[in-house]
Amino acid sequence: MSKVAILGFGVVGSGVAEVLKQNGTHIDEKVHAPVELKYILDVRDFPDSPFAPLVIHDFAIIEQDPEIDIVVETIGGAKIAREFTLRALEAGKSVITSNKELVAKHGFELMELAKKRNVSYLYEASVGGGIPIIRPLKQCLAANEITQICGILNGTTNYILTRMIRAGLSFDMALKEAQQNGYAEADPTADVEGHDACRKICILASLAFGKHIYPEQAPSEGIRGVSLADVAYAESCGRKIKLLGRAIRGDDGKIRAFVAPHLVNEANPLAGVEDVFNAITVKGNAIGDVMFYGRGAGKLPTASAVVADVMDAARNKDQPKYLDWGPGGEDVTLPPDDVSSPWYVRAESSTELLRAALGDVISLARPGAPEGEAAVLTCPMTRGELEERLSRIRLLSVFRILED
Ligand code: HSE
Repeated sequence: MSKVAILGFGVVGSGVAEVLKQNGTHIDEKVHAPVELKYILDVRDFPDSPFAPLVIHDFAIIEQDPEIDIVVETIGGAKIAREFTLRALEAGKSVITSNKELVAKHGFELMELAKKRNVSYLYEASVGGGIPIIRPLKQCLAANEITQICGILNGTTNYILTRMIRAGLSFDMALKEAQQNGYAEADPTADVEGHDACRKICILASLAFGKHIYPEQAPSEGIRGVSLADVAYAESCGRKIKLLGRAIRGDDGKIRAFVAPHLVNEANPLAGVEDVFNAITVKGNAIGDVMFYGRGAGKLPTASAVVADVMDAARNKDQPKYLDWGPGGEDVTLPPDDVSSPWYVRAESSTELLRAALGDVISLARPGAPEGEAAVLTCPMTRGELEERLSRIRLLSVFRILED
């Protein structure tokens, strides 16, 4: 028998309660023991919810209840969520989370504590919503030396970009739709500025490369700088703009992790990943390329991953499985400054001037382009080299091109 408490009754927390209730019989059969939801902790009351009788406001009740062996943390953020996670683990309870911020910032510390207390700390839902990626990366691909991870890791920004590309919608309208669908973070700045994707690439890179990689070590750029003009230029050369999280292991063993908008060739499967869907490609030295695809955000897809972790913790109470990594450090990463790639450049300039500065370029055109605007695709070079060559030119957009 396992008894569960959910911390935070928002989009994901309420989805977890629903899945536990709707699929209760199936879950109990698979775990070979009943899994029962006992408490829901939130600062609010939910008088109209069928779960209203389970709602409490004091975490100490959960902490001190010996019947509770699994705590689901869907509060988000890294303050209260961290405090409650530490207290739950200290009290000998397994913790399941969808909280990427917490795992990206404090994963190593929390996994160490879970090991000490012989309980689980599981976080499948923290990356890719309902996509199974954490276990495959840690277990199924374990035989490989992984050299690269590249993914569309944020559903909200992928939704916004898709609506801009397909419907010509403004950024603000597309964001509003994503919020209405329950995809965005409470404060969508984390989505739009790339912080959410940054946390997720850090988690994947930590797992793949075995050392904690912190968000400060992965420079991130969001999609605010992407305009409908860029969308049109990308289309003119058979490419789509996608926000990618990437982690590349160099021959020197150092990891370059970063998040930025990229132009992706329409022939690349990542270009076909639309709306709230996420996709992650992993390059291993034995398997080659492998791709994971599915719904990256939303109530039930994310709850699906959380409840699977609850079942895992319930089944393996005596011998928890650890999806862990080693300590981080300044020497683990390098900034992506030396990662060479071709670039898309839009500038207040002319093709001739851009060609004079950059050498061989492919000139792009779009309907309605204003006088004095030029856009080109460059040969591969580093960002530093690009900026040095363009130091006298007013740049409007500069995005990497994902090499096929
Ligand atoms: N806000 C996140 C996204 C939720 O849009 O991907 C899932 O982590």
